[in-house]
Amino acid sequence: MKLISPKFIYHGLESTQEIENILGDIEAKKVYLLCDPILKEINAIEKVTAILESKNIEYVTSTNVMAEPSVEKGNEIVEEVREANPDLIIGLGGGSTIDLAKAASLVTPQAGNIENYLNLTGDMELENKKIPNILMPSTSGTGAEVTDIAVFSTGDSKDAITNPLMIADYAIADPFYTYSLPPKVAAASGVDALTHAIECFTSIDATPLTDNLAYGAIEKIYSNIREAVWDKSNYKAKDELSLGSLMAGLSFYNGGVAGVHALAYPLGGNFKIPHGESNAVLLPYVYGEIIKSCSNKLSRLAPVFKIETHGKNNMEISKDITDKLFDLVTEVGLPENLQHYNIKEQDIELLTKNALKQTRLLVRSPLELKEDVIRKIYTSALNGRKK
Ligand SMILES: [Fe+2]
Repeated sequence: MKLISPKFIYHGLESTQEIENILGDIEAKKVYLLCDPILKEINAIEKVTAILESKNIEYVTSTNVMAEPSVEKGNEIVEEVREANPDLIIGLGGGSTIDLAKAASLVTPQAGNIENYLNLTGDMELENKKIPNILMPSTSGTGAEVTDIAVFSTGDSKDAITNPLMIADYAIADPFYTYSLPPKVAAASGVDALTHAIECFTSIDATPLTDNLAYGAIEKIYSNIREAVWDKSNYKAKDELSLGSLMAGLSFYNGGVAGVHALAYPLGGNFKIPHGESNAVLLPYVYGEIIKSCSNKLSRLAPVFKIETHGKNNMEISKDITDKLFDLVTEVGLPENLQHYNIKEQDIELLTKNALKQTRLLVRSPLELKEDVIRKIYTSALNGRKK
């Protein structure tokens, strides 16, 4: 059993201050800071730049990011970093910004560009050299700050750079940056994090280490997400959601995600539905189909979902949990079926065909997700919840 993680992980309000010590430890002289434009606009990055200025560190700030970044965008960042020649990269933002920052850390010192190192189509090997980085999430969701993967859009499809060297040198999850998230973004990213933890909990690659992280993550996310989404000033709930998301990231990086993510990717690729929403709209339907394969495990979550277990078998408890997942998606204001996204019955074949390509994810499902099962799940998600 093993657990892979960044060398240092900091969590908590004001953990941004750790940057001061890190600058000293690595004797940084020049920093390249990549951040979401909105964080610059609302001056949230001042927390970081004030530290750099107080230490007389030269820095370059870039907001040249996009959602679901393309390979071209990745190369633009690599170019910016090559020009700036920093000895530390800080990535502050959502999953896309963090992916761009971590890919730039690794690719910038190499001979090639992003396309040369992609898993599916790359033609060069990564050498063991990188620019040290600090990855700082501004949402409670993707877990990108603790994983070794950066995803890139390639036309209608996606490819990724995955390499152990991509693991952050320092991950800092300061909930402060999540305080200003709009409800819809907080909801979608929060349910994404919950999906990471639940899928990892029932993954065939789960271990006692990932189980405990996932269980703790589910508990924190499920009991705080509503307040964190709807109550602007409930910082306690936002802090807990942030910690839950970090724990979920650590668990799924090691134990994996499965069917929900496999079926969600085509919704992003073919219909441009954001990642968190794609997972949210499928989560209860996937579990509705696979509970027969994992009810022993899923039913262990009864205390977290506050389910009365007296006189019920594991299947009945697991069905109650699936019901609670349906309720949750609605309670945080997210669409509960595929009709909301204008998906039609004739689209199901394309979705099914593309989900089948996600073999890396599908193999971790406790129930083998063959073509007919996948088609059935998409059909259920199109028809909506059965009361
Ligand atoms: Fe995800």
